[in-house]
Amino acid sequence: MRVVRVTAFGGPEVLRTEEAPDPVPGAGQVVVEVAAVDTMFVETQVRAGWGLEYFPVRPPYTLGGGIAGTVRAVGSAVDGGWTGRRVVASMGITGGAVQRAVVPVEALTLVPDGLPLTTAAAVFQDGVTALTLLDATAVAADGRVLILGASGGMGTLLTQLAKGRGAYVVGVARGARKTALVRELGADTVVDGTDSGWPVRAREALGPRGAEVVLDGVGGAMGAEALPLTADGGRFSAHGAPTGGFADITPEAAAERGIRLLTIADAHLPDEARVRLAARALAEAAAGRLRPVIGATYPLDRAADAHRAIEGRGPLGKVLLTV
Ligand SMILES: NC(=O)c1ccc[n+]([C@@H]2O[C@H](COP(=O)([O-])OP(=O)(O)OC[C@H]3O[C@@H](n4cnc5c(N)ncnc54)[C@H](OP(=O)(O)O)[C@@H]3O)[C@@H](O)[C@H]2O)c1
Repeated sequence: MRVVRVTAFGGPEVLRTEEAPDPVPGAGQVVVEVAAVDTMFVETQVRAGWGLEYFPVRPPYTLGGGIAGTVRAVGSAVDGGWTGRRVVASMGITGGAVQRAVVPVEALTLVPDGLPLTTAAAVFQDGVTALTLLDATAVAADGRVLILGASGGMGTLLTQLAKGRGAYVVGVARGARKTALVRELGADTVVDGTDSGWPVRAREALGPRGAEVVLDGVGGAMGAEALPLTADGGRFSAHGAPTGGFADITPEAAAERGIRLLTIADAHLPDEARVRLAARALAEAAAGRLRPVIGATYPLDRAADAHRAIEGRGPLGKVLLTV
């Protein structure tokens, strides 16, 4: 079978499609025929050698963390009823960009009938994190929420889910195409982050008190500029670092104004909770209440082009690999 290997830390050119033996399921495992592989911004950063303190992987390793597909074989101690079922699974940060993946049975979540596997692949990982962040920051009806990176894979889901909870949502995205998308997804106001005056625009939209909740999927200087836009006593989730670093905010600076600072660690969940929340996200998508935006798809063999597209910040929403 074909697999995408990260042969060294470096640019997208370090991704190579290689042949590997077909996997055989061990006890408690299944083999999934992969239809679609999720891609995440952070995977491009890890491929480049960033974030070893959070993701201690070393090349050569197999790319890809999230898969959607069909169970084709089960190992011992696994119910044969899994065979032929459509599933998604998170595999951490490696091992998903393959034709056939070995997965522990307890990591599987069933895909609802009628939901395409590409949609499932696009929604389940970002959906898990989005639901976790909204719960952790207690986004509620009538609250004001500021979302940085609102046009990205997770930002598009956060926008819809926060609106679904009845919050007043201000999204920040880059350029006319992306701001239009976020408006279409339901944000009450969208501010163009390429305008250096974006914090002023956001303040106008949020009102003098600011946002009870800031969801920062961007980090760096832009994330830090959002701290003054957070209401006293509010919550600030600094989970994003596509700028190359998380928002430069100290817990002390946040605490001075009674703001609770959440970090990437707050988005980390035990496996059992991931599976449960994946089912919730897939059910929302099947019911039509959550629409992942798939901006581009690439075949497995063109994983390097997918990474170039993500790094070039061209596609709207999510980029997927199809097998
Ligand atoms: N997805 C998850 O489950 C998950 C879990 C934990 C943490 N996170 C973190 O959350 C962040 C967003 O993840 P994602 O999967 O949604 O990624 P994504 O789909 O690639 O979205 C990234 C977002 O960041 C913006 N962005 C990228 N580079 C930027 C820059 N240099 N300056 C300003 N904005 C920039 C993009 O806006 P433009 O398109 O306008 O460039 C886009 O809206 C990442 O840092 C990721 O590590 C994600």
